[in-house]
Amino acid sequence: METSYILETFGICKNFSGVPALDDISIKIKKGDVHAFLGENGAGKSTLVKILSGAYPASSGYFHFAGRDINYLSPREAQEIGISIVHQELNLFPELSITENIFLGRELTGACGKIAWAEMHKNAERLLETFQLDFDVRTKISALSVAEQQMVEMVKCLSIDASLIILDEPTDVLTDSETKKLFSLIKRLKEEGKTIIYISHRLDELRRICDTFTVFRDGKHVFTGVVAEHSKDEIVQMMVARKLTEQYPRVEVTLGDEALRVRDLCLETLEKGVSFSARKREILGFYGLVGSGRTELMRAVIGADPKKAGETYIEGKPIEIKSPKTALKNGIVYITESRKEFGLMLDMSVTFNISLSILNECLNIVRGIDGRKEKAKVDDIVERLSIKTPDTRQLVRKLSGGNQQKVLLARCVLTKPKIMIIDEPTRGVDVGAKVSIYQILNHLKQEGVAIIMISSDMPEILGISDRVAVMHDGYVTGFFTRANMNEESIAACAFGKNEGV
Ligand SMILES: Nc1ncnc2c1ncn2[C@@H]1O[C@H](COP(=O)(O)OP(=O)(O)OP(=O)(O)O)[C@@H](O)[C@H]1O
Ligand SMILES: [Mg+2]
Repeated sequence: METSYILETFGICKNFSGVPALDDISIKIKKGDVHAFLGENGAGKSTLVKILSGAYPASSGYFHFAGRDINYLSPREAQEIGISIVHQELNLFPELSITENIFLGRELTGACGKIAWAEMHKNAERLLETFQLDFDVRTKISALSVAEQQMVEMVKCLSIDASLIILDEPTDVLTDSETKKLFSLIKRLKEEGKTIIYISHRLDELRRICDTFTVFRDGKHVFTGVVAEHSKDEIVQMMVARKLTEQYPRVEVTLGDEALRVRDLCLETLEKGVSFSARKREILGFYGLVGSGRTELMRAVIGADPKKAGETYIEGKPIEIKSPKTALKNGIVYITESRKEFGLMLDMSVTFNISLSILNECLNIVRGIDGRKEKAKVDDIVERLSIKTPDTRQLVRKLSGGNQQKVLLARCVLTKPKIMIIDEPTRGVDVGAKVSIYQILNHLKQEGVAIIMISSDMPEILGISDRVAVMHDGYVTGFFTRANMNEESIAACAFGKNEGV
């Protein structure tokens, strides 16, 4: 029935400088559904929700919402008619307080038009409570972690009394417990009769919270259906079109000599002392629950955070690593888990961002930078990682979120590290891109790099690691080789049991 749909789109197209990002999208979303938008990186998901929420107009086509046919509306109008969105990129003002960010542009005023701060703070506090967040609402955004900022975005989005709420990869930076809070909130909103569009690459989340879904591929609408009626494999197949024969392509190699040894490393938060070694030609998986100390440990290894005690050896030689710069000089690169926080210069080109790390190599004393050499290297890695961009001169800001992630990876790969520490390498990237990232890691491994891969994704850990270290509560509770690696024992260690070799 017509009336059961809250949103209908009619032939929406969007071109960016003549390149189509969306092509003739006509879909319907039922009122009260949690509806997933699925598709590979660059499929057009964010572009569509940006059109719905007023970030930019459609090139042609329109949508029907709240009794109106709409081709373009401003972000404020979108809010007014009941559409609220959390964008994939953070959109907060770092130097303003939580309250100011939540109510920006909608400040409450009291008598004589004065801003009613007390009331706004109180409202902000009440909103934070719904998320069980106990920040002081006067805190500046810049003092919060990325995950906390994401929660504030969510609070801001929900503070608008919207009937359609759009979440573009909200769990990308959230911990498990934060994700749980978000899911129970989504359930509550659904009970209140709200409709939610949910974008995520984590297909297991789909089953937990979504009723219906739409798959996009290369800017086109592929399928809309009911989640419970389709298997995960079927949905993946719709997303990628090509047959994904091998999701975890591991290559067998003989492990090399020791590349990195860390002995009895202690820091403020990891008191017990952690020891491990990584060998050349291996992927050493670091598994653990969120908060088990893996990122803290690696940050101390590369000198980003101070350590209390412990030694580091590279190829058997003791090295004092006091800063990430020293780490880099000694051949260790660290790729952070959060592309939102570090690393990319969004208003520079893909080439610039990737080649930052290889400028030295392409520098010719007589002629300056050898543009041809630079271009060849960049083109090669862009192809190998299948980074979706019309041109390597494109600004990184204009790439889809997952493709931005790949640009960061491309840069690190080109530094030719001896040791590469990579934190959650496939978070936020689609199923097809995951496979290309594994292939890149395999390739580096075959070239002799020691790779330490922090991951909370069990199938990924089992699928591509040569050895696995498991952490629990700040110390290593188990080591596994291919021979004794299995899900039960690894999970047991993650919950604190000592096992493995
Ligand atoms: N402002 C822009 N200028 C030029 N091209 C753009 C712009 N925004 C998006 N695109 C292009 O449109 C296409 C769709 O991008 P979109 O961000 O919608 O993908 P997505 O499905 O959200 O992917 P992801 O999962 O990686 O976030 C991509 O090819 C992207 O490069
Ligand atoms: Mg996106």
